[in-house]
Amino acid sequence: MNVLITGVSRGVGLEISKLFLENGHTVYGISRTESEELKTLEQQYPENLFFKIFDLSNPEEIKQSVFKEFVTNHIPIHVLINNAAMAYDDIVTNLNYDDLKTMFDVNLYSPMFLTKYAIRNMIYNRIAGSIIHISSISAHTGYKGLSMYAASKGALQSFSKNISREWGERGIRSNIVVPGYMETAMNAKLTAEHKSRIFKRTALKKETDMRSVAETVLFLSDERSRSITGQEIFVDSGTL
Ligand SMILES: NC(=O)c1ccc[n+]([C@@H]2O[C@H](COP(=O)([O-])OP(=O)(O)OC[C@H]3O[C@@H](n4cnc5c(N)ncnc54)[C@H](OP(=O)(O)O)[C@@H]3O)[C@@H](O)[C@H]2O)c1
Repeated sequence: MNVLITGVSRGVGLEISKLFLENGHTVYGISRTESEELKTLEQQYPENLFFKIFDLSNPEEIKQSVFKEFVTNHIPIHVLINNAAMAYDDIVTNLNYDDLKTMFDVNLYSPMFLTKYAIRNMIYNRIAGSIIHISSISAHTGYKGLSMYAASKGALQSFSKNISREWGERGIRSNIVVPGYMETAMNAKLTAEHKSRIFKRTALKKETDMRSVAETVLFLSDERSRSITGQEIFVDSGTL
């Protein structure tokens, strides 16, 4: 399968890319930087990993930069994974429009435009493809300081559900993976005490394993999940 995925330089996107490559798939990855880990992966899989530097805070440039210069219609896209996101942590009384707008460009508007052009590619190539968006447990359970970020994820979830209805007749599926807290750069600022409070809210009393998230994404991308669409799959150590 050919997989278009955002946010491949580190964290969950890097882990998902590794798993798809290990399973023989071809990965077309996007992020703003080419990390050392990503470079190592590119050397390991020179025939199957392609990378494009692109800043997702510019959704209006997606058509030209991603779908004309990177994955043209001659490259059939079987899977789109909208993984890249940024956090905008603050309480709402400090809300700033520019910060909010940038976050929505990255977390919502770019995934929407990537979905638009990926579906066009799937239709052109007669592919019953799979779209997977990475949400967050914060869209379901309240956390102080995450209301703006959670709102962007909640909107993505509604988008996915409706896309599944809109394109289901063509065999195109759209699902959400909802991870809990993971140790990545996104959470670098959290204190040990804050983390421990988050873990206490989970049934398993621990962080979410990135590999478990990646395995779920792989499952949702292939034939094993052929009857699953419009769903939200929680991979969150049981945040109840
Ligand atoms: N970490 C958690 O606890 C947690 C929990 C629930 C859900 N999630 C979700 O899981 C997904 C992955 O998060 P993560 O923890 O792996 O975050 P991360 O370690 O901060 O990685 C984010 C990735 O997105 C890319 N990215 C960020 N802004 C971008 C932009 N403007 N343009 C292009 N690429 C951009 C980054 O690459 P560059 O910086 O190189 O551009 C990086 O590869 C996100 O959707 C996040 O909301 C995370």
